[in-house]
Amino acid sequence: MMKKFLSAILLSLFFAVTADAGNRKNFDEGWLFLLADSSQMSAPEYNDSFWRKLDLPHDWAIEGDFSDSNPSGATGGALPGGVGWYRKHFTVSDLSVSKHYYIDFDGVYMNSTVYVNGQVLGTRPYGYSSFRYELTHFLHAGDNVIAVRVDNALQPNSRWYSGCGIYRHVWLYDTQDIHVAHWGTFVKASPKEFDISVSIENHASGSKVQLRNSVLDATGRRVATSTAVVLAANGVSTHKMRLRVKKPHLWDVDSPYLYTVCTEIVKDGRVVDTYLTQTGVRTFRFDAKTGFWLNGRNIKLNGVCDHHDMGCLGAAVHHDAILRKLSMLKQMGCNAVRTSHNPPAPEYLQLCDSLGLLVMDESFDMWHRKKTQYDYAQFFDKWFERDLTDMILRDRNHPSIVVWSIGNEVLEQWSSADADTLTAEQANLILNAGHDASQLAYGAELSLQSKLTQRLVSIVKSLDTSRPVTAGCNEPSPNNHLFKSGALDVIGYNYHIADARNVPQNFPEKPFVFTESVSALQSTGFYRMPSDSLYLAPMFWWKPFTDGINKCSAYDNMRAPWGALHEESWDFVKHTPYCSGQFIWTGWDYIGEPTPYGYPARSSYFGIIDLAGFPKDVYYMYQSEWTNKPVLHLFPHWNWLPGQQIDMWCYYNNADEVELFVNGSSKGVRRKGEHDYHVCWRVVFEPGEVKVVARKQGKVVGEKSIKTAGQPHAIRLTADSTKPHANGLVFVTAEVVDAQGNLCPWAENELFFSVKGNARIVAVDNGVQTSLERFVDNKRRAANGKALVVLQVGKKAGNIELTAQAIDLKAQRKTF
Ligand code: GAL
Repeated sequence: MMKKFLSAILLSLFFAVTADAGNRKNFDEGWLFLLADSSQMSAPEYNDSFWRKLDLPHDWAIEGDFSDSNPSGATGGALPGGVGWYRKHFTVSDLSVSKHYYIDFDGVYMNSTVYVNGQVLGTRPYGYSSFRYELTHFLHAGDNVIAVRVDNALQPNSRWYSGCGIYRHVWLYDTQDIHVAHWGTFVKASPKEFDISVSIENHASGSKVQLRNSVLDATGRRVATSTAVVLAANGVSTHKMRLRVKKPHLWDVDSPYLYTVCTEIVKDGRVVDTYLTQTGVRTFRFDAKTGFWLNGRNIKLNGVCDHHDMGCLGAAVHHDAILRKLSMLKQMGCNAVRTSHNPPAPEYLQLCDSLGLLVMDESFDMWHRKKTQYDYAQFFDKWFERDLTDMILRDRNHPSIVVWSIGNEVLEQWSSADADTLTAEQANLILNAGHDASQLAYGAELSLQSKLTQRLVSIVKSLDTSRPVTAGCNEPSPNNHLFKSGALDVIGYNYHIADARNVPQNFPEKPFVFTESVSALQSTGFYRMPSDSLYLAPMFWWKPFTDGINKCSAYDNMRAPWGALHEESWDFVKHTPYCSGQFIWTGWDYIGEPTPYGYPARSSYFGIIDLAGFPKDVYYMYQSEWTNKPVLHLFPHWNWLPGQQIDMWCYYNNADEVELFVNGSSKGVRRKGEHDYHVCWRVVFEPGEVKVVARKQGKVVGEKSIKTAGQPHAIRLTADSTKPHANGLVFVTAEVVDAQGNLCPWAENELFFSVKGNARIVAVDNGVQTSLERFVDNKRRAANGKALVVLQVGKKAGNIELTAQAIDLKAQRKTF
């Protein structure tokens, strides 16, 4: 399985490179940056000689210090905002008349205004949209200057950490007079045929050209091709073609086989444009009675919601960080992600294609009605059509995407809602606090909210009828204005398990999915006992919650009141055939929204994996249910005070029973029932060893033991990659261990990192939600005995030596 992943990733890398080899060039290198604002900064002659040099993608907020007074608030991650400028000088070698130049931004947060040689090209408010400007008529021979003003000063404008700056890639695209239009192909690949539509943009007078489409298999071999003579009118014209591939390989979650459609425009015997579109052949459907089907197989969407930040790296996109994020989810058995609550970076979707992850691609967290003071609601009227259209056009070729979402918990679900008068923290909580029945849609005439729902769905359908449309709704009533529109294909509930039981009666014929579920709260390595008590927090949306420790329990026994425990939610999904699956809030912790606490908590507690990438215990519950890999996970650690009563939990699979031993003495055999997902023993701590033994049909099939660790003695470094590649990232875990190599679970030593050779330290973390240490640093306090350091390899691969030191601990050196 892992081998398959690797080859899929390598192939996707191959195509990512070859796809751009023609006339699309990466434009990330050599920018200048200043965190200041002046209208003069767009002028070509502006003196930028003292500006900071950097390569994109870049997020200036992640470099800053946490502070209670930053306007984003803890909900936005308590990091700085502001206005920043980027400039880049470049020369264009060939300004021949028949060439056209474009600049493509994958994403700028937010409110970007782009200038070239002092001329304004446009403004784009939504920070998650990808966009293009044509440069052709503004360029000249010699030095050209692009200047970008990024305005994220007015905050809060988000319920989570947004990042600041040109945080995704930038591309320069040059073409002849005639070329494939921006996002100009649409490939629908089914086992029967590849249905290809190509939009050609022609800047000259109409002419006949040859349009050639070829299907390449995963090795790059041409397996089908067809050529037609078409009249490319001046402006944009669209042409359709159908190709057949005999017995095509299917794209599936376990074998994400990818084809590439190579589109060529041939004029006067010369190929004037080549455009590659990655695609996959699969069939799927959502069924009202039986849930989700992929390639004729009835499977559950075992999904998670995912915000866009990459922990200590902030919002700045890096292929390897996304790969790490998604691979760890995939290893857990997760097969789906929801890009909550906005369009993701393009490479995120490419990776979902190549790893075999199904996607719910989501457009907005709000429509007209705002959730935070300065959010996208203020731009919605003017921009929603453009932003939604661009998302569909950009993303509709991805085989991974199986459903579009037009919004998350938009306040238009109700007739009126007061969240727009509240603080960001209160808005986050009131979303799930419920609204009374007077706020629902009654009567025959459709409300404006219902009509708006229809409008958004019709925009999607005008561009893609091959996928259903849903919305994340936390108002379960059929009289929710969104449901009342009748326009949603799939009923999507956020939470509300109890109401989900009535879906077949309330929405006959409509398929159902939990667009969002769970919202359990956990801190890595912190355990609230007794573990069989349920802890709810916060208790009231209007009252700040505090318990003095700012830690949530890593047993699955703590959750937000509107949510469910992991086991509860999975039990419902697993045993309810009409439920297509769930998207758990969330796969990874993210910066911002530290429910149930306020500052100094500044990142979330919801993740199955913490912000540093250390799996919380419940990761193994999912792995035991969602994969066939043998799982035997015993927790917590075994360093307590003698006599303390400790609840030991175990997640396991592929076994009939498990038995626990403390220093060799049995504490009993446990077996899971049909609705159980863990077993538990209440034992008295004595130093030594706690061990669990798994048996199947009387035979021992697994053993796991944890020893009481002694005094912290040394640092151990483990890297996720032994062969770092040029420009790549290396994630290194540092563990504080005793003289025998046991992890010291209480160790909080401050660790210092230094690197020699061909890499630099980009960030550090320990996964603790309340740590106010900087992410961009070379030192970090360990938490639960662990910390993470991220290295960025230089432009060429070469030797790297990483050293970790701490007072009173044996240092460790690691070379790559
Ligand atoms: C949901 C919301 C998410 C997040 C979550 C926390 O209501 O859609 O964005 O806020 O609650 O439980």
